[in-house]
Amino acid sequence: MLNTQVDQSDSTFDVLPMSMSIEKVLTEDQSLADVRTALDKGSGSILLDASQWLDLCDVDCQNELIKLGNRLGKVVQRGKTESPIWRVESKPDKAMPSFSEQSNDAPFHTDASYYPAPMKYLIFLSITPASQGGENLILSHRRLLDSLREKENGREIISILSQSEFPFSMSPSFHVDSSKELPLEVAPVLSDDSIRFQIKAIRNGFHRKPELMSTKKVYAIEQLESHLAGFMKNRGEKLKAGQMLIVNNWRALHARKAFGNEKRLLFRASVEAELE
Ligand SMILES: [Fe+2]
Repeated sequence: MLNTQVDQSDSTFDVLPMSMSIEKVLTEDQSLADVRTALDKGSGSILLDASQWLDLCDVDCQNELIKLGNRLGKVVQRGKTESPIWRVESKPDKAMPSFSEQSNDAPFHTDASYYPAPMKYLIFLSITPASQGGENLILSHRRLLDSLREKENGREIISILSQSEFPFSMSPSFHVDSSKELPLEVAPVLSDDSIRFQIKAIRNGFHRKPELMSTKKVYAIEQLESHLAGFMKNRGEKLKAGQMLIVNNWRALHARKAFGNEKRLLFRASVEAELE
């Protein structure tokens, strides 16, 4: 059975810790259904214990992660790597590192906002935690809306973010196939039950589609960005080795605090929704 108590303290945001074994999720339909319910109808993120996978070699561990992702939907290839599993680690020498390749704060965002249907689930498996920092932060769409409504200009911001079309553009550094146009999607930031937001993607989008830029829209995304920055002060969740965080990328934003050593390593799988 699910533990339905969501920790409302500032430490874990909306992450629901689940006590079921990872093997059950892989083999039992009811356990998988419980995971889906928490991700799709609950807070949008869960923590699972996959420490038994740490005894496996990297390839076998990644294969288990792919199996789990394919139970939830379809694991998709991202970036230029051979494996669909992305190694989330700091790459200080890279010229244009993404959020996941830097060791400073990664602000709240959703992934792949520039696609018509961003991947639905992100699975992060902690292999080597940072010795200092590196906590993950999750903020559900629901809690974001509640907190915005408490702000003086919050309802105005919500209205602009949900009723205006924003251009989201992929960063050129992510573009694998230069024969194709750089992905760009036009969509609202908020809908009734979902969110799409990455400040850099919208800034890139405004650059490419200046006709979609307006003072009102710039005001709304800057207000949202500074509102989200306030949540970065919270403590977050430091994943232990073998802990797995699954996030519904349509219903929750994720962020990561700066970390101090270069050895922090997570495996990440990106999962597309199954066709209905
Ligand atoms: Fe991300």
